[in-house]
Amino acid sequence: IPVDEFDLVIFGGTGDLARRKILPGLFRRYCAGQMPPNARIIGAARSDYDDAGYRDLIRLAVAEFDADSAKDTAKLDGFLAQLSYVTVDARGTQGWDTLATLVRPDVVKAFYFSVGPGLFGDLAERLHLHEIADSASRIVVEKPFGRDLDSAKALNADLAAHFDETQIYRIDHYLGKETVQNLMAVRFGNVLFEPLWNSQYIDHIQITVAETVGVGGRGGYYDKSGAMRDMVQNHLMQLLCLIAMEPPNKFGPDAVRDEKLKVIRALEAVQAHHIVRGQYGPLADEQGYREDVENARSFTESFIAMKLHIANWRWAGTPFYLRTGKRLKAQSSEIAVVFKPAPHSIFDDETDTENNPKRNVLIIKLQPNEGMTLDVTIKEPGQGGMRLINVPLDMTFAEALGEGAQAPDAYERLIMDVIRGNQTLFMRGDEVEAAWGWTDPIIEGWQARSDVPKTYDSGSAGPEDALMLMHRDNRRWMEIK
Ligand code: BG6
Repeated sequence: IPVDEFDLVIFGGTGDLARRKILPGLFRRYCAGQMPPNARIIGAARSDYDDAGYRDLIRLAVAEFDADSAKDTAKLDGFLAQLSYVTVDARGTQGWDTLATLVRPDVVKAFYFSVGPGLFGDLAERLHLHEIADSASRIVVEKPFGRDLDSAKALNADLAAHFDETQIYRIDHYLGKETVQNLMAVRFGNVLFEPLWNSQYIDHIQITVAETVGVGGRGGYYDKSGAMRDMVQNHLMQLLCLIAMEPPNKFGPDAVRDEKLKVIRALEAVQAHHIVRGQYGPLADEQGYREDVENARSFTESFIAMKLHIANWRWAGTPFYLRTGKRLKAQSSEIAVVFKPAPHSIFDDETDTENNPKRNVLIIKLQPNEGMTLDVTIKEPGQGGMRLINVPLDMTFAEALGEGAQAPDAYERLIMDVIRGNQTLFMRGDEVEAAWGWTDPIIEGWQARSDVPKTYDSGSAGPEDALMLMHRDNRRWMEIK
């Protein structure tokens, strides 16, 4: 279904995110017939391009980052014809009058700030000053949304000076992932899980976001952030909220965001010994973290594991274990909900042992191979007597949905939601601030005691201490595979 006619201005339109994600994503929506024929995409940045030069740049970008879609050259030509470019100085006067003449008053107007947060305030102010944006316009901002509570508050204030909260779309691209939304569908669309979704039946929950890549060319940014700011404060926190929140009364922006906010506010302060920080070391011909970021004395973490508690009625006594890291053994993001064993075994069988655990585990796989499995205990076939084993009920979504049911990627979905005016999958200002409010004391604690991250091997599951974090509780992490 095509969305309403729109003008989308992408500040930072020549940048990495625009070339890698935003424009290839918009092209796929164009191919899917979702972009109205008169919709316009206007790239805006400091570099000098004319429309033709910009279209060439984006043609190359689509070919590089989505070679398959780019093969349809007729479609690509049609898409590029809807693109134009204006050279804009975010802090000066150049380009703003031109932009004002380009943006149409009577269509949905969205302004994507695909630039560093240092420019958010300038852009908001100039859009207002030059009367390009109005009270119905939408602005889209990217992470990092600040680096602590104070800077996030300042950014929120800069935006709020010219835009209402209902106009601000703060992207956390994890919320645009298919399975992340499925998490809500599974929890609140079935009767099966929700009655068991509490500390009476759930032993613990694990959230893993493991990457094989290192920090690559982003060392400058990453070394000032680390896994806590780069991944935990936003992506993992959002996953935790969706897993732990109370049922919202409807799937609407404030209903969902109110419930997520309550989870963040209910997080207990984390004890220092419940956090493990790691940094990947060099291995064979692969550089270690410190070489990657060109900082031989860096104490920034590229891995973090932690144990959290949510202080509310539903979750008292059920720990949440979170871990994320770079250069780990596999790219794998999943949430494992580990249920308690049956209260009493009627079978004359060895009970819950490490090699033969008898418990239900619901695994929600975010990537790769999105889907879910539910481990159930059954009788081992063919054996005399009642020997029990666990087998997975497997549901890979791609298989279940059949050929061609390719879900839009996170950015495509989120940009279309902006045009539709649906804020449900975007972070509200108070949510972001609450997440920083929880993160800040942890980071300050590391700084105060000059905490040194443990070195771990590239291709491993992270530092040994992270395994111990679970072992101490007689639990273990799911394998990263
Ligand atoms: C980004 C982080 O927000 O998310 C990156 O800045 C990380 O460091 C990326 O690699 C992971 O996203 P995805 O979608 O590949 O899991």
